[in-house]
Amino acid sequence: MTDLSTDPYKGVRDFYPTDWARMQAMFTRMRATLAQWGYEEYAASPLERAELYEAKTSEEIVSEQTYTFTDRGDRRVTLRPEMTPTLARMIAGKRREMPLPARWFSIPNVFRYERPQKGRLREHYQLNVDLVGAGSAEADLEVITVATDLLKSFGAKESDFVVRVNSRALLTAACTAAELNAEASRAYLHLLDKKNKMPAEEFAAAQAAITAKDPLALIEDAGTSPDVAREKKALLDTIEALARRGVGNAVFDPTLTRGFDYYTGIVFEIFDTNPENPRALFGGGRFDRLVALFGGDPIPAVGFGMGDVTLADFLLTHGLTVADTDGRPELYLGTPSPEDIPGAQAFAATLRAQGSRVFVNLTEKNLGDQIKDAVKRGIPLFLAYGANEVASQTVRMKVLATGEEVGLPVSELPLRLRTGS
Ligand code: HAM
Repeated sequence: MTDLSTDPYKGVRDFYPTDWARMQAMFTRMRATLAQWGYEEYAASPLERAELYEAKTSEEIVSEQTYTFTDRGDRRVTLRPEMTPTLARMIAGKRREMPLPARWFSIPNVFRYERPQKGRLREHYQLNVDLVGAGSAEADLEVITVATDLLKSFGAKESDFVVRVNSRALLTAACTAAELNAEASRAYLHLLDKKNKMPAEEFAAAQAAITAKDPLALIEDAGTSPDVAREKKALLDTIEALARRGVGNAVFDPTLTRGFDYYTGIVFEIFDTNPENPRALFGGGRFDRLVALFGGDPIPAVGFGMGDVTLADFLLTHGLTVADTDGRPELYLGTPSPEDIPGAQAFAATLRAQGSRVFVNLTEKNLGDQIKDAVKRGIPLFLAYGANEVASQTVRMKVLATGEEVGLPVSELPLRLRTGS
């Protein structure tokens, strides 16, 4: 028998403690920014009824990218490929008792059966930020501003990224002006979604098969249809309002469609300006009819998702780092002999009770090797705690980065650790 593989399943990642600490540092930064905006965190199971996605999402995702199976009770189950249908389900479930508008966020892991490549995996963590119960342009402005604030909270400058904005309402008006029925409009939007990934001639041929009039030309020259003109003006007004509120890097992109069928109004994506990262960092938009799929009147909503993979690539490309030391041990308690371990554990307990993060040696290594072990683990402070220290109630604390040592009474240690000196 061959040994079992230690590799994770294709396209998913293991997070060893330092990797997970880095992820958590990103999440901590996101949570802090969202708390400032009054967004509350929610969560849900990754398992959903398959029908949730079949109702109204994206054909490509449902038919090609979901992990769907039949459970032992013959129910079809899908591992969530995105969070928006779950959000809509949860809001709809408590629509009567919930104060609206609701500002919610979540950082779920989501699963898509995609070809793994740079910026694309089969499981990623996706920050979802949604503002539910407000249908105004003000809500659109808030959500896009939050998205840009998140990147700025990581130290990004406006020149590092661009917000591409379009409107489903505008695209729909253009399709109507081009005399496309609902089905042809859908086909056209699906084609447009792929425009940048295909040769121009191929796009032109496919477009000619759907429509005689070019909807994009009708958007360009909005004079021919009052509906197109109205929607285009609303969108350009939003972009101007964004600039007035400090989002100066939003641009109108009439080819942006977004892959999901549930969008009804503004849609947007944020891209790195560095061509090394060609994939969208964020994607979102307004989805005013999704909640009503669960019954009742429509509840308008707007939001976005941001993936951890593309965010990490972005931060790396721009030399932005997030400190990941939070939560790691700050002090290594060495033990001169194994008999000292119970005493060291008791001492560690008193330090922990005062808020310190303490690692206690459990090995029979000598103190020199324990110091090496502390360095290897990246724990910044070391002290030996044995019979001498118990008797004298003083310790010698070593700062491993500099090799400097300080003697101090045990009673002063918690304060020293708190002030980090
Ligand atoms: P989405 O554009 O499919 O939108 O995904 C949002 C972001 O998730 C993308 O911009 C990208 O950063 C990341 N992402 C997507 N797929 C992958 C993948 N296979 N590997 C790594 N990262 C990925 C949605 O999912 C919408 N539900 C967002 C939303 C929330 N709309 C309204 N509210």
